[in-house]
Amino acid sequence: MQRHTLVEQFVHDQAKVPGATGELSRLLSRLSLAGRMIAMEIMRAGFVGRLGLTGDKNVQDEEVRALDVLSNDIFIRVFETVDTVSSIASEEMSDVYYYSGERTGKYVLVFDPLDGSSNVDANGAMGSIFSIHRRCTDGPRATLADFLQPGSEQVAAGYILYGPATMFVYTSGGPVNGFTLDRAIGEFFLTHPGMRIPEGTGSYAVNEANEAKWDERTRAMVQRFRLGQTACGKRSARYVGALVADFHRTLVQGGIYMYPGEAKRKNGKLRLLYEGAPLAMVARQAGGHATDGERPILEVEPAELHQRTPLYIGSRADVEEATRLLRG
Ligand code: AHG
Ligand code: MN
Ligand code: MN
Repeated sequence: MQRHTLVEQFVHDQAKVPGATGELSRLLSRLSLAGRMIAMEIMRAGFVGRLGLTGDKNVQDEEVRALDVLSNDIFIRVFETVDTVSSIASEEMSDVYYYSGERTGKYVLVFDPLDGSSNVDANGAMGSIFSIHRRCTDGPRATLADFLQPGSEQVAAGYILYGPATMFVYTSGGPVNGFTLDRAIGEFFLTHPGMRIPEGTGSYAVNEANEAKWDERTRAMVQRFRLGQTACGKRSARYVGALVADFHRTLVQGGIYMYPGEAKRKNGKLRLLYEGAPLAMVARQAGGHATDGERPILEVEPAELHQRTPLYIGSRADVEEATRLLRG
């Protein structure tokens, strides 16, 4: 076999860190297990009656789909036995989730178990996003403060993309590596080593149906991208409606993804801790950039678990240009 498996890559990364104990590798391996389980559930959802809404709303007053709940349960379950993860937090849970028993592990994990879940019923791409921090407090169990660290402090971050192929893309502070699942044997293989976001090419992605909710500057900025009046020139629009899928395309082909703030929703829709910050770390390690329209996403100090943020992410020049235009 000529290609690294995902687990071999973890071991390889770990060997470069003096004193590493293998705990991060174990955590990442478990994430890949959650990803394989969720990919399987998505594939079977139509057969087993798991499409559609549950009728409930989550903590952010958004409609919950059966697969959101199931994916969240899978994450909870796979980390049950991994006590290196002290506690977890997720889009689908209002507060930090504590496992029973003593968990003095040094990491906390935060995730969006199923991003883009409105695509479920349309057989569209979706993903899971994860962010790992080392605890910054040393009490007997993790506290909210361990989760409210800026993105620049992330130890590792990435996502699992459930598209035509399932992919695991992550960085632990070095290169961004992308792995593709060979479904026949249930193993991820390195297919995209050292991913770099191309410059001067690619599409722009934004939900233009929200235009009436934007301020004048945002409208004018997006219009320049639409009319090809940015440094990069003429380009196409693309919008999957699943951040992971839109980001993955941007990572591979270049360009920019935007979710601006709105008149009634100043910070837009996306969440800082389990959408913006992890993807911003991936973007940075791939040579790209991410801002909230003013500051680099990775420098934002979170004040709450489910904090929202405007997001401009992708090729460095595009993100810098968009940010400049927004500042006026
Ligand atoms: P989630 O499914 O985790 O709630 O996230 C949905 C997000 C994100 O995936 C996507 O980019 C965005 O919502 C799309 O929002 P609009 O439908 O407002 O464009
Ligand atoms: Mn999401
Ligand atoms: Mn979600």
